[in-house]
Amino acid sequence: MSLAGRRVLVSAGPTYEDIDPVRFLGNRSSGKMGFAVAAAAAARGAQVVLVAGPVHLPTPPGVARVDVRSAAQMHAAVLDALPADVYVGAAAVADYTPRTVAARKLKKRPGADTLALELVRTADILADVAAHPRRPRLVVGFAAETDELEHYARDKLVRKRVDLIAANRVGSADCPFERDDNTLHVFAADGAWTLGPAPKREVAEALLDLIARRLEADPAT
Ligand code: C5P
Repeated sequence: MSLAGRRVLVSAGPTYEDIDPVRFLGNRSSGKMGFAVAAAAAARGAQVVLVAGPVHLPTPPGVARVDVRSAAQMHAAVLDALPADVYVGAAAVADYTPRTVAARKLKKRPGADTLALELVRTADILADVAAHPRRPRLVVGFAAETDELEHYARDKLVRKRVDLIAANRVGSADCPFERDDNTLHVFAADGAWTLGPAPKREVAEALLDLIARRLEADPAT
């Protein structure tokens, strides 16, 4: 199903939250799922902006890429890229960031066996896009859960006011981090779908089929 003429905004990868000039808090997201969504959307004719955290992946053909590092930078870059018809928030955004970034490398303190870092909440990009005056017609979030997948996914759907949540089971045999294949459990107010197990590009195509169908079914688009 074509996405010609649609503007698709995707965020992908981890964020790095700096502690000092050499250390950061990160996570194991490879960015592959979001990059696959961006590549597949561009191949369907969409105008794609991909906001990427620090990953080692080539830019898919036809995709405009904006590289960022921190959750705050990703937040600004995503909101700057609006308007869009679709936002797919596939990034693993840090929920907390150090209150302050030390200007110099933190040194071991003689006699101190522990070190406390004070963290503050980051802004929720997905929720802010969903509540934005220029809200895309379709806002799609991702979720990584170890248990009660459907319960937490449906909670996110309502709480963050998004249209679709694509949930991954993590911490089990089918943990998707750093892998090339994936299973997505997708939830909407009016249904649920299982996409895969399949290579991430195939899962991305199935997700875009769902997205394209919903755009076409919505008379306002
Ligand atoms: O609630 P949770 O963080 O598990 O929700 C995951 C979804 O929210 C993902 O789509 C992720 O990209 C998005 N998110 C975000 N900004 C945050 C935290 C999560 O956009 N600060």
